[in-house]
Amino acid sequence: MPDSTQAPALSAQLLAAAQAVSAVLSGQSLSEALEHAPSSLRPGAQALSFHAMRHLGLARAAAAVLIPRQPAEPLVRALILLGLCLLDASLQHAQAEPLAHGTPVYPSHTLVHQLVEAAHAHRRSRSAKGLINAVLRRYGREYATLRPRLVEQPEARWNHPTWWIATLQRAWPDDWMRILQAAQQPPPMMLRVNTRALTREDLAQRLQLAGISCHAVGDDGLRLDSPQPVRTIPGYEQGWWSVQDASAQCAAPLLPLADGQRVLDACAAPGGKTAHLLERHSLYLTALDSDTSRLARVYDTLQRLGLQSPDVTLKCADAADVPAWWDGQPYDAILADVPCTASGIVRRHPDIRWLRRPDDLSRTAALQTRIIDALWPTLIPGGHLLYATCSIFPQEGEDQARAFLERHPDARHLSAPGHILPGNPSDGDGFFYALFAKTS
Ligand SMILES: C[S@@+](CC[C@H](N)C(=O)[O-])C[C@H]1O[C@@H](n2cnc3c(N)ncnc32)[C@H](O)[C@@H]1O
Repeated sequence: MPDSTQAPALSAQLLAAAQAVSAVLSGQSLSEALEHAPSSLRPGAQALSFHAMRHLGLARAAAAVLIPRQPAEPLVRALILLGLCLLDASLQHAQAEPLAHGTPVYPSHTLVHQLVEAAHAHRRSRSAKGLINAVLRRYGREYATLRPRLVEQPEARWNHPTWWIATLQRAWPDDWMRILQAAQQPPPMMLRVNTRALTREDLAQRLQLAGISCHAVGDDGLRLDSPQPVRTIPGYEQGWWSVQDASAQCAAPLLPLADGQRVLDACAAPGGKTAHLLERHSLYLTALDSDTSRLARVYDTLQRLGLQSPDVTLKCADAADVPAWWDGQPYDAILADVPCTASGIVRRHPDIRWLRRPDDLSRTAALQTRIIDALWPTLIPGGHLLYATCSIFPQEGEDQARAFLERHPDARHLSAPGHILPGNPSDGDGFFYALFAKTS
């Protein structure tokens, strides 16, 4: 009988990770791709494929030199790229170069051997074993001279697409390097305390008793000193807390609200900010989202946190198609946490940078404009609209806010953080917030 407690073989994890990398290269998101991995392999495949996403620029540049004619089979290409990312970390480690916390490091010979085993285990890559072995061994031999040449290319140096780097350079001439460096670090784990269930101090004490150290961040947050599996943190089932980044936790405190007000959360799913609004105030709240399956997650979130009530209405609709969902009664406050490129959260979703295309930016900006312009008439005079995106591209932030004010003379710009760049003191994700009041 095989021992079910035994850790899965590295070669099996490598194969699962390469399949996920291959899926991303064909346009699928990494989290979707990892859902297809067998559950026993998923944690390992996730760590390996996350590392690959953070170093894909270097690996591609190396592959272009080492194999001028790229293999036609996507799985073989993915095994080579994954192998180059991991081998590079091993070689850097051997040279005592500093590596990001949590970088997977294996002895080079073990790694190459296991990658060849991984290739052997799948019929689509079996015939490429020799090629994979040869490419990786050559990278090892030529590393000292080849690597410095590769990192002269921006994409290999920063591990982001060239257009993305150029966009950040234009937008943030003083900060772009810090932003790109922050994207390579594993993110901290932050909790938002459900203050309807217990106080932040209570939760912090209970975590300390369970051996989890943390410190306060923002109004309602706790930052864990080291990330923990969700189910091992006391109070998940009881709804004491939610996982939410510090920057995302800024939304609810920014909206000036009072109990009993009518509030619209226009792009609500999966419900992190909806829940935070309801934890802080008793509201008549409508949570809207255009994606049915994501909207179901809002319901689950509110149920777990004990926030579901007859005062909360969930609706599936396009926020920009107001006649389809509005009952004609104006809102006191609107949260518009609109869809965006997600350029501020690449350290949590390192595949995003490779999945986006330059024209996505103008497409999402146009959708954002359409949504907030449609929402504005549903706001009561004297009410507030908070515009939010998890993007650090000005087209989805500052530019969008400026253009909104030009189009709406009855909008007044109130104080809000604007762009929060990665590498900020709270160590929160990149975000943008603009708060507008309706004057008449
Ligand atoms: C940034 S996410 C919202 C995150 C959410 N506010 C939270 O804190 O958990 C953007 C959401 O907008 C939804 N969405 C996209 N286009 C939309 C539209 N036209 N109308 C309403 N929702 C839309 C997406 O399905 C997605 O769930």
